[in-house]
Amino acid sequence: MRPFSFFGALVLCRGTVAAEGNPEVVDAKNNVTYRGFNRNGVEAFLNIPYGQDTSGPNRFKPPRPFVPESGSIIDALSYGPACPQPLGNELFPLGFTDTTEISEDCLNLNVIRPKSLCPEDRLPVLVWIYGGGFWSGQNREITNAPDGMILESVANGLPIIHVTMNYRLGFFGFAQSNALEVEGSENAGLRDQRLAIEWVRDNIEYFGGDPEKITIHGQSSGGLAVGIQIMAYGGSKPVPFQQGICESQALEPGIIANFTIDALQLVVDHVGCNTSALHSQETVACLRGLDMDTLLNASAATHQVDIAHNIGDVWLPVVDGDFLPAPPSQLIAEGRFANVTVMMGWCDNDLTVFTDTDISTPQDTRSFVKSYMSFVSDSDINELLSLYPSSDFPPNPAANLSSEFYRAARIFRDVLMVCEPVYYGAALSAKGNSVYLYDWNQTILDPILEFEGVPGLGPIHTSEFAYIFGNISHYKYGDFPFDPTPEDYSLVSRGSRSWSTFTSRGVPGLEGHDTFQGFTPSFSVGSQGNADGTFSVFVAGGPSEGLSATDGPNSKPEIAAQKLKERCAFINSDKIIKNLRF
Ligand SMILES: *[C@@H]1O[C@H](CO)[C@@H](O)[C@H](O)[C@H]1NC(C)=O
Ligand SMILES: *[C@@H]1O[C@H](CO)[C@@H](O)[C@H](O)[C@H]1NC(C)=O
Ligand SMILES: *[C@@H]1O[C@H](CO)[C@@H](O)[C@H](O)[C@H]1NC(C)=O
Ligand SMILES: *[C@@H]1O[C@H](CO)[C@@H](O)[C@H](O)[C@H]1NC(C)=O
Ligand SMILES: *[C@@H]1O[C@H](CO)[C@@H](O)[C@H](O)[C@H]1NC(C)=O
Ligand SMILES: *[C@@H]1O[C@H](CO)[C@@H](O)[C@H](O)[C@H]1NC(C)=O
Ligand SMILES: *[C@@H]1O[C@H](CO)[C@@H](O)[C@H](O)[C@H]1NC(C)=O
Ligand SMILES: *[C@@H]1O[C@H](CO)[C@@H](O)[C@H](O)[C@H]1NC(C)=O
Repeated sequence: MRPFSFFGALVLCRGTVAAEGNPEVVDAKNNVTYRGFNRNGVEAFLNIPYGQDTSGPNRFKPPRPFVPESGSIIDALSYGPACPQPLGNELFPLGFTDTTEISEDCLNLNVIRPKSLCPEDRLPVLVWIYGGGFWSGQNREITNAPDGMILESVANGLPIIHVTMNYRLGFFGFAQSNALEVEGSENAGLRDQRLAIEWVRDNIEYFGGDPEKITIHGQSSGGLAVGIQIMAYGGSKPVPFQQGICESQALEPGIIANFTIDALQLVVDHVGCNTSALHSQETVACLRGLDMDTLLNASAATHQVDIAHNIGDVWLPVVDGDFLPAPPSQLIAEGRFANVTVMMGWCDNDLTVFTDTDISTPQDTRSFVKSYMSFVSDSDINELLSLYPSSDFPPNPAANLSSEFYRAARIFRDVLMVCEPVYYGAALSAKGNSVYLYDWNQTILDPILEFEGVPGLGPIHTSEFAYIFGNISHYKYGDFPFDPTPEDYSLVSRGSRSWSTFTSRGVPGLEGHDTFQGFTPSFSVGSQGNADGTFSVFVAGGPSEGLSATDGPNSKPEIAAQKLKERCAFINSDKIIKNLRF
């Protein structure tokens, strides 16, 4: 890559700016012009179609690439429709953008880049896969807008391009049945993501990107998506990217349980497509014959959101013998995944926001944990609980939150957000890949949640967004309190530059750059862990930022107190993984 230079770029690219000042990108090979616009000091190209309409006969089917007609000009000036999901804001207050326009013709993506690039610039590319429980989410969510991140990457001297796709969700993206499996139409939402990443690989050079330097990142179900993309086809086909970042999720318990088939049965009953067996071709044909609104309403009316239904994460990837050839835990154990450099992490209090605040007795904790891990035996639940003594979790009387509440939330966090990345990361590391684990320990959401009546939750799910996307002002919203500290502003710069530095250089920090310092791989590369069974975690933000071993002389007391080595060793033991059903 030639060194980045605004001067060079301006000279080379003058011809591609239209008279009105809109940036234009020309794909000379296919004779297609993309017309974008300037905003916030960057260039935006929105609603670029990458896949065809998924309605009617195409519903559930793998996406088909969208091929623009030769000679066409694509006006990439405003956001395209979101994929079918409830209107309004299902994510509030963890996301601020209402879903206002939905369509099954939703396979579009946005490219945001520094000003005045040339194809010769070949900048590294970061591709975002949104979360939202595979139920909601869209590529126009304001808290994920990457404009600030791009400006920070330019200031850091290692500029990047950012891309965000829409992909099918819920019933439309994750329906599963024997008939759908036979026609190769399961995991549609994951196949959409893959097609979008292939679009990036095949087209990003026209936008000044490097097709051989692509990092995918995602959070929550988007982090799970990154985890699955890495093991797609069991590693038997080359992946269209080189690196991944899994934020607050890399895997999920229950993928081989019955959440999705049960959810499908409810929709099928609700719309009256239950005249034939659930797994039949007739049922699929009936579902293809209905309109989007009827199906969406039925899936919203039957959506179950409680801990026994995986807090609403009921539309999940499925082992289809193709895209996902075996259960994730098996693919990991057998080393059947792509070799990519990864960063994986969680927020320090990730799941307090999804834990019942009424939990106050050990019995409450037990039933919460048992309903989440329903296949784990009572004796194993007892052993798990004994690894988390109540005395480890001080209550917060000011917030009226009990010790048991924090205990339950921590067990939930470790099972879903911490030990699965440790398990996956150790296996990736054993195959020679660098794996970086982080614990995000700073948030500006506390005052917002306090305003909403739930104080005391700490750095929850999504806390990294305000920083890594490089614009904390996204959280200046409505009547919400907004009063960032100097430490918050400094983490905006350091955090977002660490994400873009990882995208550029495959390491989250560089000396002499305003990035995380001392963030080395969490396992000795080429092995499952260090000789003494420890691994390390980088605490990002908060009062004790820096690398820490899980215990022993190189550990920080704050991390040692989390007992991650022994707790994850139990949660990642064969018998527990088997009963977590993933
Ligand atoms: C590209 O498309 C434009 C507009 O239709 C047309 O005038 C031009 O001849 C095409 N160029 C090539 C090389 O096909
Ligand atoms: C990943 O690397 C390991 C170790 O070099 C190798 O055995 C394995 O085949 C590689 N996997 C893929 C999908 O390339
Ligand atoms: C899922 O449902 C099938 C069919 O009803 C049943 O045989 C199987 O045991 C169930 N699996 C789980 C994990 O509950
Ligand atoms: C379909 O489901 C509805 C709602 O649960 C039920 O009333 C009806 O009897 C079912 N029909 C058949 C043929 O199973
Ligand atoms: C779907 O639900 C919305 C909101 O309740 C309603 O306005 C609309 O008419 C429903 N559409 C269908 C096809 O049932
Ligand atoms: C404190 O929490 C307990 C248990 O959830 C609840 O019963 C009680 O009403 C709460 N008290 C206040 C003052 O909110
Ligand atoms: C940062 O976010 C605020 C609020 O959404 C917006 O007004 C501003 O234009 C953004 N700036 C950049 C550089 O993205
Ligand atoms: C996270 O920050 C809190 C204070 O905000 C601190 O008490 C705690 O020890 C920190 N945790 C870690 C793992 O550094």
